[in-house]
Amino acid sequence: MKGVIVLALKEMVVKNFGEDKWKETLAKAGIDKEPRVLATSDIDDRTVLNVVNSLCKVLNISLVQAADAFGDYWVNVYSQRIYKAYYVGVKTAKDFLLKMDSVHAQTTRNMPNAHPPRFEYEWEGEKTLIMKYKSQRGLIDFMVGLIKGVGKHFNEDLKVTKLGSDKVKVVFP
Ligand code: HEM
Repeated sequence: MKGVIVLALKEMVVKNFGEDKWKETLAKAGIDKEPRVLATSDIDDRTVLNVVNSLCKVLNISLVQAADAFGDYWVNVYSQRIYKAYYVGVKTAKDFLLKMDSVHAQTTRNMPNAHPPRFEYEWEGEKTLIMKYKSQRGLIDFMVGLIKGVGKHFNEDLKVTKLGSDKVKVVFP
């Protein structure tokens, strides 16, 4: 996984829960010395998942709660700073979500070793979108948290439901 994800996770933990919790998380994950991470660094998926699991233990929260906290932070804080361009001119959560497949393909096009998730879209009526998640990583809970973050950003009360391990249902208001 690209370092940018870990940098965002770290910033979320340090800002919302304090530096000590991040240090505790790394220690629990068996990382004695924090390596220097750049946005474009490649970090082993297992290491990232290990850190996320340790974080859940340190904060005494579930994986779903961690995914929601990350999704909110990524969409409403982190990406507003470094990926602002993707939000320019987009007025609704629907339009933003429909761009996400090409955004993931685009942002990672020039990053060697990136394996971005891809999405397929299917409408079940006018207001109900099924987003199919295509990734080997199994991070559907993060996808749900990120979509909730998108709803918050656009001030829309989205109903977001996980349908198994590769589909999310989004009902727009
Ligand atoms: C401006 C907004 C966004 C940008 C620039 C962005 C970019 C990225 C990047 C660079 C990665 C790492 C890919 C890799 O390591 O190969 C990633 C991972 C991921 N993104 Fe986004 N993302 C954005 C918003 C979203 C949203 C709204 C969703 C939900 C639909 C989403 C779902 C995911 C998931 C689930 C992953 C984890 C990797 C995986 O499951 O394979 N992202 N994103």
